[in-house]
Amino acid sequence: MASVTFDKATRLYPGGDKPAVDQLELEIEDGEFLVLVGPSGCGKSTSLRMLAGLEDVNGGAIRIGDRDVTHLPPKDRDIAMVFQNYALYPHMSVADNMGFALKIAGEDKATIRKKVEDAAKMLDLTQYLDRKPKALSGGQRQRVAMGRAIVRKPQVFLMDEPLSNLDAKLRVSTRTQIAALQRDLGITTVYVTHDQVEAMTMGDRVAVLKDGLLQQVDTPRNMYDRPANLFVAGFIGSPAMNLVEVPIADGGVKFGDSVVPVSREALSAAADAGDRTVTVGVRPEHFDIAGSGGLSIVVNVVEELGADGYVYGSTSAAEGSQDLVVRVGGRQVPEKGSTLHVVPRADEIHVFSTSSGARLSR
Ligand SMILES: Nc1ncnc2c1ncn2[C@@H]1O[C@H](COP(=O)(O)OP(=O)(O)OP(=O)(O)O)[C@@H](O)[C@H]1O
Ligand SMILES: [Mg+2]
Repeated sequence: MASVTFDKATRLYPGGDKPAVDQLELEIEDGEFLVLVGPSGCGKSTSLRMLAGLEDVNGGAIRIGDRDVTHLPPKDRDIAMVFQNYALYPHMSVADNMGFALKIAGEDKATIRKKVEDAAKMLDLTQYLDRKPKALSGGQRQRVAMGRAIVRKPQVFLMDEPLSNLDAKLRVSTRTQIAALQRDLGITTVYVTHDQVEAMTMGDRVAVLKDGLLQQVDTPRNMYDRPANLFVAGFIGSPAMNLVEVPIADGGVKFGDSVVPVSREALSAAADAGDRTVTVGVRPEHFDIAGSGGLSIVVNVVEELGADGYVYGSTSAAEGSQDLVVRVGGRQVPEKGSTLHVVPRADEIHVFSTSSGARLSR
């Protein structure tokens, strides 16, 4: 087992005008489950492939434990990768697929059989060992791909969207299984997904990338409670955080008819940047329903989920109309077309610079 360090690691593809991954700095602890997440094209796979040795590193370094692996070939890095398409050999049985890397490494038959059987037990695949991959379900194939990685007992697991071929329900159960398995094995894991829910539920820590640049790396809790900038604020959380540009008022910000208090530091930071507005972020669950005043929202759509509900409405605040999402109790769902008055909870609002996007509050 080992830690993993990206030390200003940069990948510029030939012919590209800017790096696909730009000076990535990331330290992953021994045994940690780190999730790399971000929109399509942000550089997740490139980062993983640099760590795997499948992509050249054009600047900076990559270390596994205290070994500098920046220019080592993949086979000398002691890692195992699980890909999106599993890449199982169709003509081989499940057992042979799982043991293939060990066979190539020259291990003896009895040892291979033992390791494959142990992994199969862990993955609930014992009864399928003699089948060919085509006679398995998607979820079972996914577990064979995991098994192939596990039998090698590598220092680091790399997984690139390993669940994206599974249907929604299987994805949810499989992500729990993978997280539990990783915890049992204690092998340092870097997991790539574009799905922020997957990232938040699986990772010990989550690293958010955008346009090749690391935006924030934090525990899921901190990422949700204190997003470092507007991008992370909008990306993490579902339904997304409401982000509203509002004028700065005396001691706070003007939110509809009310002034919501905002810390003095946040306001002076905005003023120092020459801004007259800030962008306020409020999660859907952080509005209080008021009898009158506050911000009036015309209810467009109501999503009833039983325990609670989401109200999708529009306001006519500051600069024109603005769409907002508000969570309400399951038994207090307003009617479509009615008007709802809401006030954001002062201690739960996030303040960002409208010009730079940086977090200003707390
Ligand atoms: N072999 C390549 N040659 C040139 N450019 C590439 C190559 N592979 C990827 N890129 C570019 O590098 C950027 C990052 O790609 P990457 O595959 O790392 O994104 P990703 O975050 O994994 O996206 P996705 O979620 O769609 O898989 C993209 O702009 C992509 O077009
Ligand atoms: Mg990718």
